[in-house]
Amino acid sequence: VSHREHWERIYAAHSPLDVSWHQAEPRLSLELIGRTGMVPGGAVIDVGGGASLLVDRLLAQGQRRVAVLDLAENALAHARRRLGARAAEVEWYAQDVTTFSAPARFDVWHDRAVFHFLTRAAEREAYVRALRRGIGVGGQAIIAAFAPDGPVRCSGLDVVRYDGGALARELGAEFRLEESRAESHRTPAGGEQRFGYFRFLRVA
Ligand SMILES: C[S@@+](CC[C@H](N)C(=O)[O-])C[C@H]1O[C@@H](n2cnc3c(N)ncnc32)[C@H](O)[C@@H]1O
Repeated sequence: VSHREHWERIYAAHSPLDVSWHQAEPRLSLELIGRTGMVPGGAVIDVGGGASLLVDRLLAQGQRRVAVLDLAENALAHARRRLGARAAEVEWYAQDVTTFSAPARFDVWHDRAVFHFLTRAAEREAYVRALRRGIGVGGQAIIAAFAPDGPVRCSGLDVVRYDGGALARELGAEFRLEESRAESHRTPAGGEQRFGYFRFLRVA
């Protein structure tokens, strides 16, 4: 099956509360978004956001332009249903991040556990091109991926694990690594997954 079909099936078959990546509170994401210094009028996109609660929290903080992109329409449907009337305040994109062209640039690009699924160099290069279309110089990217001692697969798919240096090499010289954080994610089933979170500033 295609990747899109794979993810559509996951979100059709499972409650978003039960998937291994579910977080009751996207604490470190919010903390690092806070560290960007973005003003409430700023624009933020959660790529591969799935049914994450990050969008709810950003709206509650008064962030004015909030977008969520995901390959799986079923994932976005979960989030929209949860948000109810507030869903109308969000830009929704049911698209592949690697071919995404933002209609207007964002201040902050957030990705938790999406880039790490790109196992082919050509896909990663396409992602970085989409990232450069998505944020300009001065914009920031927060990317969270499985750490070198994290799982080798997620949701039945192979992943690439990263430390900050390896991720910085993928993003290239336009992006400067500003901050790295580690998280031990407790899955709903009680397992442990080690993540790294990296905040980058686009410098050129
Ligand atoms: C492990 S989940 C993480 C979801 C969310 N970021 C979170 O932390 O709860 C990975 C998500 O990325 C989406 N995804 C996978 N490949 C993608 C792609 N090429 N473009 C956009 N979304 C993608 C999946 O549908 C899924 O929702």
